[in-house]
Amino acid sequence: MKIVRSPAEMKNLSMMMQRSGSSVGFIPTMGALHSGHMSLLDRINDSCDFSVMSIFVNPVQFGPKEDFQKYPRPFDADCELAEKAGCDVIFAPSKEDMYPENYCTYVNVENITDGLCGASRPGHFRGVTTVVLKLFNIVMPQIACFGQKDAQQVLVIKRMVHDLNLSITIDVAPIFREESGLAMSSRNVYLSDAERAAAPLIYKGLNDGAIYYNNGVVESNALINVVTTAIGQSPLLEIEYVELVDTKKIKPVTSVTSAALIAVACRTKESRTRLIDNIVIGGTL
Ligand code: PAJ
Repeated sequence: MKIVRSPAEMKNLSMMMQRSGSSVGFIPTMGALHSGHMSLLDRINDSCDFSVMSIFVNPVQFGPKEDFQKYPRPFDADCELAEKAGCDVIFAPSKEDMYPENYCTYVNVENITDGLCGASRPGHFRGVTTVVLKLFNIVMPQIACFGQKDAQQVLVIKRMVHDLNLSITIDVAPIFREESGLAMSSRNVYLSDAERAAAPLIYKGLNDGAIYYNNGVVESNALINVVTTAIGQSPLLEIEYVELVDTKKIKPVTSVTSAALIAVACRTKESRTRLIDNIVIGGTL
């Protein structure tokens, strides 16, 4: 496995691969890799000749009071994991190479970034779309894989790809979970033992919601109530939002008539860790 730091070198390598007829698949990450990230790599290895995973903790998508400084950066362990899983290239640029002095160009997907995580993390998606478009231009993949774990992120990226006429196929991977049901996340390392024990209630709630829907309950209020009740069983989980939105406009719906997302964000009481999770009902993302 090759580790590439320079955007110019990454671009050359990718161009060489394409010229030799190999398809390039891409997995953008911020590192602190876990089995969820690896499941994305597996999908790319199944569908492409050459796999590139980026590791870059993108400062532009973190708010001033967020965890940019303390975000875990176990780079050597990440490289070992990725190599074992058959990754061809790790692209790990520096902050200075991605955002040199006088940098002032940003990509903003409007409307669908207003709700859910966009409401509590102003500027977050602008940072995500900016870095992802830059990474797409450097890596030039045919396919890029994103996880349903960050459902709004996937929908925003898909919208950017469509609106800006990019020739990249976005593959969406299912949420990879711990045995307890807790969605894997690089931020789970912040959790105390008690919080870790409480966190699976989030998935339990989402699952209960899906079961109610499958039994014929389509009213949003009823479905949201089921999820909120399950999460409310633990005093360690503070709900930021439980919302039921359509998958096109990401706006709240009153009842489920087509593909909809039950999306949850919680903050844990002790370590103040932000946990997100979701389930799609009535269709797919
Ligand atoms: P990061 O949180 O490292 O996630 C990288 C990719 O892994 C994302 O597509 C995310 O949805 C996916 N992922 C994370 N946990 C997952 C899980 N449990 N199951 C399946 N997929 C999972 O998301 C980002 O980084 C950044 O915003 C990024 C897109 C790299 C831009 O900086």
